[in-house]
Amino acid sequence: MSQRLWLELSGEWERVHEELLLYAAVNGWTTRQDKGGFVEDLTLGLWNKLPQTRAWLAERGWTADRLFWIMIRPNSSEEIHIDSMTAMARINFPVINCQHSRTTFHQQGEITATKTRTNGVQYYHLKENTREITSVRLTSPTVLTVSEPHRVVLDPDFTTGIRVAASISVVPDPIWLLKSVHEEHDTA
Ligand SMILES: [Fe+2]
Repeated sequence: MSQRLWLELSGEWERVHEELLLYAAVNGWTTRQDKGGFVEDLTLGLWNKLPQTRAWLAERGWTADRLFWIMIRPNSSEEIHIDSMTAMARINFPVINCQHSRTTFHQQGEITATKTRTNGVQYYHLKENTREITSVRLTSPTVLTVSEPHRVVLDPDFTTGIRVAASISVVPDPIWLLKSVHEEHDTA
């Protein structure tokens, strides 16, 4: 592999998880009755309302930028896609039931569809399913390369509830972490 596609971040994050879980519950993200999906949180003063999360990122040199809630219900799955955001990589925090899912990364393929979310954000979808390269089960804060083809796949035995993750873009873009891991491996 030319580059790592994900990296779990070390360090205690229990208070961050509690904060995200409470915030998600208060804002209704845990009880949505539609099939799930994607919500960009544009709450005024968002980062003032998530001080633990912001501090956790700041301790590691990052400024929090945009927060997306990724919600997936049983019997609905994501298509392989590339996020069309300017961020090459994003930090994903598991919030609810993420242990019952994998984020899979795939070989490149022809991009044939552009889907626009309700907030105007575009995602690029591949023409057909391409071969899986690697996957990660989100159990701790993890850098994911969203600029490479990927999707979330739920375990078949996950049949009730909702899977929720908080996906945060930060400055500077954490893509450099994945590149530096690659270089360490190369020179080892
Ligand atoms: Fe994505």
